[in-house]
Amino acid sequence: MLEDNGSIRTLSVDIGGSGVKAMVLDITGKPLTERGRLETPQPATPEVVINTIVVLAAAQGEYHRVSVGFPGVVRYGVTETPANLHCDWIGFDLATILSQQLNRPVKVINDADMRGLGAIAGKGVELVITLGTGFGSALFVDGTLVPNMEMGHHRFRKGETYEKQLGRAALDKIGEKKWNRRLEKAITSLQHLFNYDCLYIGGGEAVRINMNLPLNVKLIPNITGLLGGIALWKD
Ligand code: BGC
Repeated sequence: MLEDNGSIRTLSVDIGGSGVKAMVLDITGKPLTERGRLETPQPATPEVVINTIVVLAAAQGEYHRVSVGFPGVVRYGVTETPANLHCDWIGFDLATILSQQLNRPVKVINDADMRGLGAIAGKGVELVITLGTGFGSALFVDGTLVPNMEMGHHRFRKGETYEKQLGRAALDKIGEKKWNRRLEKAITSLQHLFNYDCLYIGGGEAVRINMNLPLNVKLIPNITGLLGGIALWKD
């Protein structure tokens, strides 16, 4: 550990179905570098995705520790359900392997959980959903995370899940107008289910939202996916 804690730099990494992003944050979570992005290689096996992170990391300069958001269930640094990545991620110890590659301590959590940590106010019931390749979700009560909620794979309507109805594949298939109508129904259904104080919506496709949102629903910028990385080192 450095003597001067104030100079600790955290490399924050967001693994997505279509892009892998990285940026360095200072101890307060303020960005210190420009966000780097590379396409997620296909098929997205652990080996090629880790190589992509190593390339991105090298371009980000100095850092002392690493936070990673992964698009699936993560427990104790091990990835469990890579819905939109290669099945070799099932039971993969990403924290340990990446730590060996980068020679730095690494913490890994679900990508929607990390995005939420970068967005929430820390009061009341706060729900976060992310619209991208998949449908991510994160729930917080007074700032405490209920990890790995995976709302996306639960039934929404017509026997289909939130992800099937609102993920990128659905958006491409049905177009923005219909997708917005579905999203409006999803917001109502989530409000009835969680009675949240605030719902945050982020992810690469959130820019396609075209409707009047209720007052307790907020759009969050893309960068929140990386900003949340600082919270992994809070204790
Ligand atoms: C995964 C979630 C993830 C979401 C967004 C879903 O398919 O199951 O864990 O948060 O995609 O990437």
